[in-house]
Amino acid sequence: MTDPRTADANAIDARVFPSTARRGSQCGQLKLGDLRATELTEQFGSPLYVVDEDAARARAREIREALQAEAARIGTAATVYYASKAFLCVEVARWMVDEGLAIDVASGGELAVALAAGVDPAVIGFHGNNKSVAEIERAVSVGVGTIIIDSEIETGRIAAAARAAGRRQRVRLRVNSGVHASTHDFLATSHEDQKFGQPLSEAPRLVAAILAEDSLEFVGLHCHIGSQIFATDGFRESARRLLGVYPALAELAGAPIPELNLGGGFGIAYTSAQAEEAPDVAVIARELADIVAETSAEVGVPIPKLAFEPGRSVIGQSGITLYTVGTTKSVRLAGSDAAADPADLGASERLYVSVDGGMSDNARPALYGADYQVRIANRVSEAAPALVRVVGKHCESGDIVVQRDFLPGDVQPGDTLAVAATGAYCWSLASNYNYVPRPAVVAVRSGEARLIVRGQTEDELVAQSVTGDETTLQNGATK
Ligand SMILES: Cc1ncc(COP(=O)(O)O)c(C=O)c1O
Repeated sequence: MTDPRTADANAIDARVFPSTARRGSQCGQLKLGDLRATELTEQFGSPLYVVDEDAARARAREIREALQAEAARIGTAATVYYASKAFLCVEVARWMVDEGLAIDVASGGELAVALAAGVDPAVIGFHGNNKSVAEIERAVSVGVGTIIIDSEIETGRIAAAARAAGRRQRVRLRVNSGVHASTHDFLATSHEDQKFGQPLSEAPRLVAAILAEDSLEFVGLHCHIGSQIFATDGFRESARRLLGVYPALAELAGAPIPELNLGGGFGIAYTSAQAEEAPDVAVIARELADIVAETSAEVGVPIPKLAFEPGRSVIGQSGITLYTVGTTKSVRLAGSDAAADPADLGASERLYVSVDGGMSDNARPALYGADYQVRIANRVSEAAPALVRVVGKHCESGDIVVQRDFLPGDVQPGDTLAVAATGAYCWSLASNYNYVPRPAVVAVRSGEARLIVRGQTEDELVAQSVTGDETTLQNGATK
């Protein structure tokens, strides 16, 4: 691994940043979609989420093609749903559909955005461990392609909604295969203590109940083993376990079970160090296809059609966040502090670099201790690399954007910083903590920038408070 103390702290690693990101040959500025970072912040404000449209589309296509090619190799087909929880707005839903992906939504709100984008409801999969009856009725009545049943109680609710709408609703059953995957390894257990899905051992009983409902069409099992997964063994073990119950389910149904949905979770590199280990989707696709073909033959069922739901791996590396530095502060690391964390590489000082956003636009470091990579975007500098921690402006000491990286030591107030790989689970997990407005999202492509999500204003946030002379009728409506 390259030593960050001696590496070029201006370098834009193409394995982490979006594919069109590069330094301008004359200005040295970070450019994305052929636009300078500061042009973007001058026009749209700071902080700013920027999504590289070509990179997002290319990645969506690459993942879909890899999964579909491998499915075809084993004689079946694959549907690739974009897991829209990663990042959804009307424009992104359209890109995904244009690139041949279906859309997975997990709430009435996500469904509403997908419909507003003109997505054909037939290609939408609807998830959630606590869909309200109103959400179920809406999904059924607009013609959502598949609803994923998360608990026994939902079977009756979806069946009733379908009956009332005079429809036969396609459904999957979400199960836990007992495989828990984290970034590098997986743990296989026989039962799970978590809120999603039903234990695999209960699948025959629950599928029998689904099959007993005339208004439901059972199409197969669904399982999502986790997120940001690097090792492929967990995916393979989970697929093997799911197919192991397909003969019993086929006997109940009196016909082969047509589909199998293996969820998402493919990991991406957030930093150059991770880039050396991040999985290649083509390899995951090949290994999954092999295990599905082998296990189907072993247990004696026809190979089902496959479905996948990647989110992060589709959109994560297409996005960056631009921030403006407000203050810097150097903190001496006492001998014991420096020794305590070998990742600080023995540095005697840490430069705290405060930016104009933070945990409200990127909750992942605070939520999961996630790592990110940062670069000065408005210039290059020959100053020696310094150990930095990029922090936000919120009233939490855990308000960290980049836990640890090396930037040119002359990073200063007014600099624009670019944090890489913020395309997934940043805008979608954003909050208004400290009444900080959510930044806008801009799409860039071939020298053009388009606003795709409006940023909030302080006035909008202030207007949420109900004043004494208003009578509240219901959430969102006042008289
Ligand atoms: C059911 C389901 N499918 C797909 C995903 C997408 O996962 P990822 O973005 O890691 O690919 C998630 C993420 O939580 C999920 O819960």
